Amino acid sequence: MKLTATTRPLGLIGHPVSHSKSPEMLNEVCKILGIPAVYLAYAVEPNQLEEAVRGMKALGFIGFNVTIPHKVAIIPFLDELDDTAAEIGAVNTVVNQDGKLIGYNTDGVGYLRSLTEETAFSLRDKTVTILGAGGAARAVSITLAKAGVKELFIANRTVEKAEQLSEVVTKWTRASGVSLHESNEEIAKSHLLVNTTSIGMTPSEEHSPIPLEYLHPALLVSDLIYRPKETKLLQRAASIGASTHGGLGMLLYQAAVAVEHWFGQKAPIAQMRTILENGD
Ligand code: ATR
Repeated sequence: MKLTATTRPLGLIGHPVSHSKSPEMLNEVCKILGIPAVYLAYAVEPNQLEEAVRGMKALGFIGFNVTIPHKVAIIPFLDELDDTAAEIGAVNTVVNQDGKLIGYNTDGVGYLRSLTEETAFSLRDKTVTILGAGGAARAVSITLAKAGVKELFIANRTVEKAEQLSEVVTKWTRASGVSLHESNEEIAKSHLLVNTTSIGMTPSEEHSPIPLEYLHPALLVSDLIYRPKETKLLQRAASIGASTHGGLGMLLYQAAVAVEHWFGQKAPIAQMRTILENGD
């Protein structure tokens, strides 16, 4: 698409951002949808976050994505939060609505769309174990609790964090926190197991967040990690006959929901997926 004096900016702020596939994917989306915009990745140091946000507002950005380490820290610099972002306590998408910066969180809903479209798993009356209690676990557990799961177990290395998150989630469904390495019984009772920790991510592909013998064939095992595409946890799950769900879909759908917030149009999912799948 031709860059002109009316081309408007979009972007990603985080630190680091040099590995991100978002510029390639989102510029293609703008081209497909005919939006005169350009999307760039900006490495912003934590002590420059406020200045960066004010700058983007002053320059008339359509909106932007927010990634590690700014998802929580950005909140005081925004004008408004939508309800889901407020509940999750983190923002990954900002929309500039006539000069007002509104924060959204599309991670949880992106995960849910990926799960339902790629696995056809129904959450009603299901028991779920979430591994991890950080930002990603917060988005996924609150979204799943609101979507109607019967019971959630949150398993984390630091048990106090699992207990704190389960207390929040109790607002929507039955929830309790357990230790990551003593989650055997909870996993045995679960239909879905979701890894939100970074254990097993490149370059530590040989690691697994839990002892692999905790897995059983009736599980759907879902891993938010997308590098490698199939983690050790998913390999083992597949080898014992359990169903598996990789992390690329969440990456795709959280971006798709962001596109819908910015442009009010359906995202071109198939083309976006091709770009992500061709990633290194
Ligand atoms: P994110 O936004 O990706 O969720 P985060 O908020 O830093 O990142 O959370 C990281 C999660 O992975 C936490 O649940 C963390 O466990 P602790 O709360 O005990 O720190 C978990 N995690 C990271 N590295 C881990 C490791 N080596 N062993 C066990 N858990 C780990």
